[in-house]
Amino acid sequence: MNIQNTQVPTEWDRKGLPAWSFFSPEMLEAEKEQLFRRHWQVVCHVNDVPEPGDFVASDLVGERALVVRGRDMKVRSFHNLCRHRGSRVVAEESGNCKSAIICPFHGWAYNLDGTLRGAAQPQSLPDLDPVEMGLKPVEMEIWQGFVFVRFKEGPQPSVAEIMARFDDELAQYDLENLVPAEDVFWAGEIEANWKCVRDVDNEGYHVAMAHPGLHDLFGTNYHDEPFTHGTSRSLGQFREGKHRLWSVENYRKILQPPERLDDDHKAAWLYVGVFPNLVFGLYPDSVIFYHEFPVENGRTIQRGSVYRHKDEDRRMRLARYLSMRIDRITSKEDEQLIEWTWEAAFSSGFDGIVLSDLEYGVRSYHDILRGIFPVLDGDEPPEGTLLRENERRLKEAAR
Ligand code: FES
Ligand SMILES: [Fe+2]
Repeated sequence: MNIQNTQVPTEWDRKGLPAWSFFSPEMLEAEKEQLFRRHWQVVCHVNDVPEPGDFVASDLVGERALVVRGRDMKVRSFHNLCRHRGSRVVAEESGNCKSAIICPFHGWAYNLDGTLRGAAQPQSLPDLDPVEMGLKPVEMEIWQGFVFVRFKEGPQPSVAEIMARFDDELAQYDLENLVPAEDVFWAGEIEANWKCVRDVDNEGYHVAMAHPGLHDLFGTNYHDEPFTHGTSRSLGQFREGKHRLWSVENYRKILQPPERLDDDHKAAWLYVGVFPNLVFGLYPDSVIFYHEFPVENGRTIQRGSVYRHKDEDRRMRLARYLSMRIDRITSKEDEQLIEWTWEAAFSSGFDGIVLSDLEYGVRSYHDILRGIFPVLDGDEPPEGTLLRENERRLKEAAR
């Protein structure tokens, strides 16, 4: 197992996060607020909403995002929240709302730019200002075609700044012009704390043992780079020789890497992790993203989407089908590992974890969490006082 992890210091603390941080309801609420509402969250790609009236809606940690393309072709983001009594204004995850967004509760109508067009039975209401009573905008940034939102002001710079170190490398994937490969976003529920998902995802040590498909594809050519400034990078270059698995062998045979990719990326899968919960997978045949959100401790939603290039021919489509197949099996394998690590913490025999150098990505991710939540250094939860204690520790560290 020759998987490498670059940038590992000679001495480092191999412990994971304290067990309580996976169960504490207070911790989870703090994470929802400080991480999920205050950091950029991807919703879709602009080409998921190509026509006026097209929309994508996505819920996370009690917030509801709604991305809509206007008649002026502008993409805007709102809270999916009617100004009358808070109903969702669109019920589906995606679709087209024609020329107006009509709330399914009492029928208030909003223009595609979010302004209020009119209430049902307006004579029963006072005069309503169309802008003031329009759908509430959510902070939005479109990065390389991907629509990101942020529900509350946060510590991160713009998505473009966060991703700047990948500008040159990602330019060859022409992200702006991707189109959705499928009609729907996939989503599933995992029985674990959300951090268990990240902990499995942030290291390649398990690839050789737990992912026969990926191991057959990469062999020993898989490299992880830990989190630096909020992003991580992993590159798996395809190994030479015959492959054992049918799907991998055929994927290699069928895939004709596009001209736009340089030699390092022609026969490779590149993963870019974005703190706190997003991963882009950049393949010669397609681009994917997936991310997860906590519902409660022990319930996490994972959601994702697959994109292709417009000029995809039949051969590339088949290659994409095969890469998706390898990917789907890998996700299933991960899901099992995630749930086992979650279960372990309930066992009387569980005594914490020991990280290998090849799992330094897990540590580097935990270190960002510790920067935001210094209370994670404690073996016992500061029960009932987590937020106050955390505030105190942050102030102390800033002195
Ligand atoms: S809640 Fe939307 S119209 Fe009443
Ligand atoms: Fe995995």
